Amino acid sequence: MSSQFPEARPRRLRRSPELRGLFQETEFTLNDLVLPIFVEEEIDDFVPITSMPGVLRIPESKLAGEIERYARAGIKSVMTFGVSHHLDASGSDTWNERGLVSRMSAICKDAVPEMIVMSDTCFCEYTDHGHCGVMQGAEVDNDRTLVNLGKQAVAAARAGADVIAPSAAMDGQVQAIRRALDEAGFSHIPIMAYSTKFASALYGPFREAGGSALKGDRKSYQMNPMNRREAVRESLLDEQEGADALMVKPAGAYLDIIRDIREASRLPVAAYQVSGEYAMIKFGAQAGAIDEGRIVRETLGSIKRAGADLIFTYFAMDLALAGI
Ligand code: PBG
Ligand code: ZN
Repeated sequence: MSSQFPEARPRRLRRSPELRGLFQETEFTLNDLVLPIFVEEEIDDFVPITSMPGVLRIPESKLAGEIERYARAGIKSVMTFGVSHHLDASGSDTWNERGLVSRMSAICKDAVPEMIVMSDTCFCEYTDHGHCGVMQGAEVDNDRTLVNLGKQAVAAARAGADVIAPSAAMDGQVQAIRRALDEAGFSHIPIMAYSTKFASALYGPFREAGGSALKGDRKSYQMNPMNRREAVRESLLDEQEGADALMVKPAGAYLDIIRDIREASRLPVAAYQVSGEYAMIKFGAQAGAIDEGRIVRETLGSIKRAGADLIFTYFAMDLALAGI
């Protein structure tokens, strides 16, 4: 039998669903997904977020029930964002032991002790100007913000948070938080650094979700989306400062960066499929242009294929309910 042109026939491994499954290289499970949630104080009912169809602000009074529902569906981890009614110039509610950041972690851990609670560690939802730290004139004061980040991280850890996730994009924030946690007796609490965070237009819907007061932008502290070398540098700096895991945010438009960081570090790499990525898929599907279920799996699979070990996604609960 002589071989026939073409000799290479990759289609041989694609002939049935079983063969395709056997040779599939990338997979994700509920172990890889973190569900970001928005919790508002002093309200009684869920509030739909119009720019993120299907996502609701959770009233604090209903948070425990929601966490139980997520756990029943198979969700292993949540990231808490607060919608605060106590804004001031520095975001001091975040380090108040009876403030919203602390209460969210305490409520989640009380409801489902094995749920991994990541506490987003920033100020923009607690400052009256909407920036991610203390202002000095028109600038965010890096080093004064570091002190406050340390205080917030300790308060969250004290309230039961399992992971501290600083997203303020301040220089030195991982080291400042690591020191503060260690001094307070929390050397066992890991830091999931938002280590490469771009100043992205894809955060638009999140600003509605969090009720952001921001006028202007965050370009003086978040990264220029056009910079690839600097993206790797930022994550390696966080590694040196003691980060336990790195993160790229947003995810889908930054797959090259996820791959670069995967190759530059041995730490776990996370990626955050952000509000704008969610909104584009939801509205595209609502318009009948794309198949939501398939696109969600394709985008998340691609983020894993690029090198992410875990993914923050607002689709986590939909996938859990669908049995992944
Ligand atoms: C703020 C923060 C943002 C997000 C997470 N933490 C927005 C921002 O930087 O303005 C974005 C999340 C999303 O868009 O889903 N520190
Ligand atoms: Zn912020």
